[in-house]
Formats: sequence, structure tokens, C-alpha cells
Amino acid sequence: MRFTDKSIIVTGAGSGIGRAAALLFASEGGKVIVADKTEGADETAHLIAQAGGAAKAIRIDAGLEEDVIRTIALACDSFGGLDVMFANAGISGGMANLFDTDVALITEVLRVNLIGPFLAIKHAAPRIGERGKGAIVLTASVAGIRSGAGSPAYSASKAGVINLAAVSAQQLTGSNVRVNAICPGLTETGMTKPVFDYAREANKMDRVGRLNPLHRGAQPEELAKVALFLASDDASYVNGQAIAVDGGLSSSHPVTRQEYGKTAA
Ligand SMILES: NC(=O)c1ccc[n+]([C@@H]2O[C@H](COP(=O)([O-])OP(=O)(O)OC[C@H]3O[C@@H](n4cnc5c(N)ncnc54)[C@H](O)[C@@H]3O)[C@@H](O)[C@H]2O)c1
Repeated sequence: MRFTDKSIIVTGAGSGIGRAAALLFASEGGKVIVADKTEGADETAHLIAQAGGAAKAIRIDAGLEEDVIRTIALACDSFGGLDVMFANAGISGGMANLFDTDVALITEVLRVNLIGPFLAIKHAAPRIGERGKGAIVLTASVAGIRSGAGSPAYSASKAGVINLAAVSAQQLTGSNVRVNAICPGLTETGMTKPVFDYAREANKMDRVGRLNPLHRGAQPEELAKVALFLASDDASYVNGQAIAVDGGLSSSHPVTRQEYGKTAA
């Protein structure tokens, strides 16, 4: 029960990683503002209430400043302050290559994926600081570490999130508010549903995640657990970091791997 009576905001909590995190925060005693642009927010809040937890849903666009301010105000009014902000909402923006990406597309991807977390930090940090300590967790991606896991617009947005975790941790020097990011690898969520659905239908699940040493994709709870760790006092000395949660994908240059226990041919 690491979050007993803590006031927590999760954006993008209507599905996938955000929903898994909201449920886990609540199961550890947290009071959760479940923020999403879809009715998934209400469904997640309902699931939390069914399990005996405390949650309030709010429909927002996480890339709009007035909506971020409104969400933080709801947390403070409902739960007496703010302890944790998990800025997780994001969009893939599709797989357009560099030359098919127009300014409107990259602007929208950056607005949701990068300006959203920027606004979350800017407006949440002062309120979290009032509590004496707390944490902000951002969802970046392995796509933000290097090429190969998303479109140019998506990758650039997530590289920005990784940098935002580092620079904002420094900007918050003396506040006792920590900022970290998680970098998920391929995770089974609403965003990646077509990939997993296709693999199951085509009997090709053994190909999903085959580029990482664990040979599989992740479940959202595996990401949520790391986000909760970073948000908790267990991570009290972790600050300004981006933690890859990708089965080992980003730990290697692309090489032909030798399977454990098998000798080279
Ligand atoms: N699934 C993966 O493989 C993967 C890998 C790396 C990073 N990520 C990141 O994880 C985060 C969570 O995505 P997910 O995989 O759980 O996908 P998801 O689609 O299941 O969940 C994302 C949620 O964010 C919400 N959302 C999108 N734009 C929003 C906005 N402007 N305002 C409010 N809510 C908004 C969606 O409605 C949805 O409920 C995203 O930032 C995504 O980029 C996912």
C-alpha cells in the first residue's frame, strides 16, 4: 500500500498502460483522477470503484493547457492536493515516413505526446511541491531512444519526452519533486491492437517481440509496475532518468544473437 491516501493523476487512463497503472495505484490505496479523451476514462473509474478503490473520471485533451489545469484542479479539490502525476497519454500518429509526414501531422503528434507532458510538469510540479515531496512519471518509448520503433514524428516526440524528464528534474532542483520516464517496448494495448490481432489470427505470435531477448511483447501491467515504482518512495533517489522497459531490445546493437544453451553453428 505505497500510495495510501495519495492524490494521483493518470492521463491516457482509459486504456492500455494508463488503465493498468490507474488500477494498480488504486489497489495500493491511491485516490486516482482518471483522465482520458474517451469514455474509457469512465470505464476505468468504474473498474476502480468496483474493486473498492477511489477514482474520479475526467474527459480531457491532455495536449490542451486549460484541460491540464482543469485536471489538476479536480485532483486538488477532490483529494486535497496532488502527489503524483503520470503523464502517459499518447498517440502513434500512424506510420507515415518522413516524406509523407506533413506539418499538420507532426504538429499534432508533438502537441499530444510532447507538449502534453510539458504542460503536465509545468502545472503539476508546483502543486506536488506543496506536499513536500512527490513524483512525475512520463511515458516516452524505445522509439525515443533511436530509430526503428515508430514514425519520425512519433520518435521525435518521444525523444523529446526523454529529454524533458532530464531537464525538468534539473529545473526542479530543491523542490523534492522527482521526474522520470518509462520507455516501453512493444506492449499489447489499444495502440498496438492491430499488430497483436494480426499475429494471433495468422498464428504468428512467435514473431511478436522476437527482436528482444525475451522473445515476446509486454503486457500493460509490466509497464504500469515500473511507473508505480518510479512514482513511489521506493524510487526516492531515482531522478531525471528514462528507464527502458523493453525486454532488453534497446540494450544491444543489431546483431545475430546466439540462443542461450545452444552452441554456434
Ligand atoms: N503500446 C506500446 O507498444 C507502446 C510503446 C511505447 C510507448 N507507448 C506509449 O504508452 C502510452 C500509452 O499508450 P498505450 O500503449 O497504453 O495505448 P492506448 O491507445 O491503449 O492508450 C492510450 C490512451 O491515451 C488516450 N489519449 C490519446 N490522446 C489523448 C489526448 N490528447 N488526451 C487525453 N487522452 C488521450 C487514448 O484515448 C487512450 O485511452 C502512450 O504515450 C504511448 O505512446 C506505447
